[in-house]
Amino acid sequence: MRRVVLTDFRNYPALALAVEAAPVVLFGPNGAGKTNLLEALSFLSPGRGLRRARLAEVDRVQAGAPCGPWAVAASVAGPAGLVEIGTGRAAGADRRLVRVDGLPQKSATVLAEWAQVGWLTPQMDRLFLEGAGVRRRFLDRLAFGFEPGHAETLAAYDRALRQRALLLQGRSLDTAWLGALEHAMAEHGIAVATARRRTARRLDARLARGRDAFPAARVAVAGEVEGWLEATGEAEVRERFAARLAGNRACDAATGGAVLGPPRSDLAVRHAARDLPAAQASTGEQKALLLAITLAHAELLAEARGVAPILLLDEVAAHLDAENRACLFAEVRRLGIQAWMSGTDRALFAAIAGTAQMVAVDRANLTPC
Ligand SMILES: Nc1ncnc2c1ncn2[C@@H]1O[C@H](COP(=O)(O)OP(=O)(O)O)[C@@H](O)[C@H]1O
Ligand SMILES: [Mg+2]
Repeated sequence: MRRVVLTDFRNYPALALAVEAAPVVLFGPNGAGKTNLLEALSFLSPGRGLRRARLAEVDRVQAGAPCGPWAVAASVAGPAGLVEIGTGRAAGADRRLVRVDGLPQKSATVLAEWAQVGWLTPQMDRLFLEGAGVRRRFLDRLAFGFEPGHAETLAAYDRALRQRALLLQGRSLDTAWLGALEHAMAEHGIAVATARRRTARRLDARLARGRDAFPAARVAVAGEVEGWLEATGEAEVRERFAARLAGNRACDAATGGAVLGPPRSDLAVRHAARDLPAAQASTGEQKALLLAITLAHAELLAEARGVAPILLLDEVAAHLDAENRACLFAEVRRLGIQAWMSGTDRALFAAIAGTAQMVAVDRANLTPC
């Protein structure tokens, strides 16, 4: 990323920031606009950004009145050099607009071809302690970088799931139609499971080595369908999957979900050296595990695409001891990643201040120092 321009984005009426390829440290008091700027950068990738906000929520509010619509533009280094990405909310609509080099794009999913943006937020510090949904979302975002069709496959599975739920709620007896939807769910569900398994295996192979102070981690996808895929051929799994869905119509009618498949899987992470599930590691150890996974993913992506992804690491120093901080900075340098790191305390970044761009943030004003 070389240039960022924000318009009516949360507390920023207008901002233009020029940066080099080096890491960026944003420091300043609470409420200054650090997370808002990282959120703006997260909209350079598909999806709802790092706060999973609704588009209208992001419009700047002044004296209780919304301004906007918001917009973010940036020059981003892609495989074929710098591209200009622009995105924002369409005026008068709850729809996202995307332009690449000035050309309007049909959907935000194309952004994944141009920019790889990953993030860790303080909310994700609880990733290993919360329900499986947040871990699945985390794994799916990691998979997007390697599996170009993954977002579409997930959407196709969800469509079939929702149509089946509607039929079941309507007490439909159209078993042929239900059966067809269940076969579609099995087909897409297996594709989702396969992409997730491949992603976890890639990460696991890289993480098993461990690196410096970061703990070695083991990563796998846990789930019934994943277990079947491990043990037997895909054709048989497809039949079994569809048969289980057909046998569970009464149950699934009540929940609106499905007894097995993508919404039932989990990302299982272990602290390898201590042979413990991540949830039982200390808060700081969990943070180090998350960083290790995020950096291993960035390294794999850089190898696959020839361009390092951009990482947004909000309040990244929280819970990290000096050794883990040093390890983070060393990895960011080694991988040549433009990591955007934020924190309230500038001193925590002293060890990287010499090679990073230090930017003071105060009430939506940025001062490079
Ligand atoms: N839509 C919005 N319009 C105007 N201000 C907003 C909007 N959303 C959030 N803010 C304000 O932006 C300020 C900076 O937020 P944030 O970037 O999260 O701070 P921090 O620097 O602590 O990360 C906060 O005071 C927040 O209330
Ligand atoms: Mg913040």
